[in-house]
Amino acid sequence: MASKIKKIGVLTSGGDSPGMNAAIRSVVRTCAYLKIECVGIYRGYQGMIEGDFKTFDARSVNNIINKGGTILKSARCEEFRTKEGRKKAHDQLVKEGIDAFVVIGGNGSFTGALMFNDEYGFPVMGIPGTIDNDILGSSYTLGFDTAINTVVDAIDKIRDTASSHNRLFFVEVMGRDVGHIALNAGVGAGAEEILIPEQNLGLERLLESLKRSKASGKSSSIVIVAEGDKTGKNVFELKEYVEEHLPIYDVRVSVLGHMQRGGNPTCFDRVLASRMGVKAVESLLEGKSNQMVGIRDTKMVLTPLAEAIKAHTEIDEELIRVSDIMTT
Ligand code: F6P
Repeated sequence: MASKIKKIGVLTSGGDSPGMNAAIRSVVRTCAYLKIECVGIYRGYQGMIEGDFKTFDARSVNNIINKGGTILKSARCEEFRTKEGRKKAHDQLVKEGIDAFVVIGGNGSFTGALMFNDEYGFPVMGIPGTIDNDILGSSYTLGFDTAINTVVDAIDKIRDTASSHNRLFFVEVMGRDVGHIALNAGVGAGAEEILIPEQNLGLERLLESLKRSKASGKSSSIVIVAEGDKTGKNVFELKEYVEEHLPIYDVRVSVLGHMQRGGNPTCFDRVLASRMGVKAVESLLEGKSNQMVGIRDTKMVLTPLAEAIKAHTEIDEELIRVSDIMTT
């Protein structure tokens, strides 16, 4: 039976992440391939509410696969959290003749999509786009791979100067409430200690580990601190704490910040985005809705949005063990 869906909208919502453009491109080109109309929705749900739409064809997305950020712009929209806001958005979609939409974003964006579907029975499909890698149902979110490579690159550079001056660096990385960026980039960059929210071993253990590190002959050290870590101290307070208790260390702090969200996506993220876009459009045309596209064991899979937003993905315990062994 032919699908009732003839026009699909695509938007990016929440914090941007590298690979979002590649996913937009994939959605647009899949629609073109399947002879479905495609509309770009600007500024996330805010643009949906205001009818900020533009018809896209295959050529509208030339030369964006390699670009960070999102050509559609992104926003965290308060108005869409209200019934009135969602009503305005629905009116705009109906006016434009849009039959379904693909939202590229994180938990908040998916929660909005679910509420919208609940109220209007409107077909929605999610693509997980966030550097945090915290969404249940996909081993990787779009932008995570690029972000950890950006962090590793930055830490390699910090290590050069740390080593020249025999210094200890606290490097704060993003990740909101989870430690996936910290743990993966920490292992990849050879950090001495990695402080993540999922595992608070306390400040005593940090001091012990730094003492051991000095005694074993290491002259410089890198400690990665996830922004959501639970030591109760931010990176600057950690610096003061260590300087007070271990004056042998000359300590510096580096907060990597939003540079982790920018930059050209890695090949991994571009391929993942391309696969996710195809799966999202095909799934909508098969009559599926309220699902998120993800990757597990190299295969594309769907997870109900209601499941995806329930909890964060768990930290990889085996990788924590590897990290412990590597810091011997
Ligand atoms: O969710 C992505 C993320 O970059 C988090 O890692 C970080 O905590 C947050 O967004 C920062 O948000 P904003 O760009 O609004 O400051």
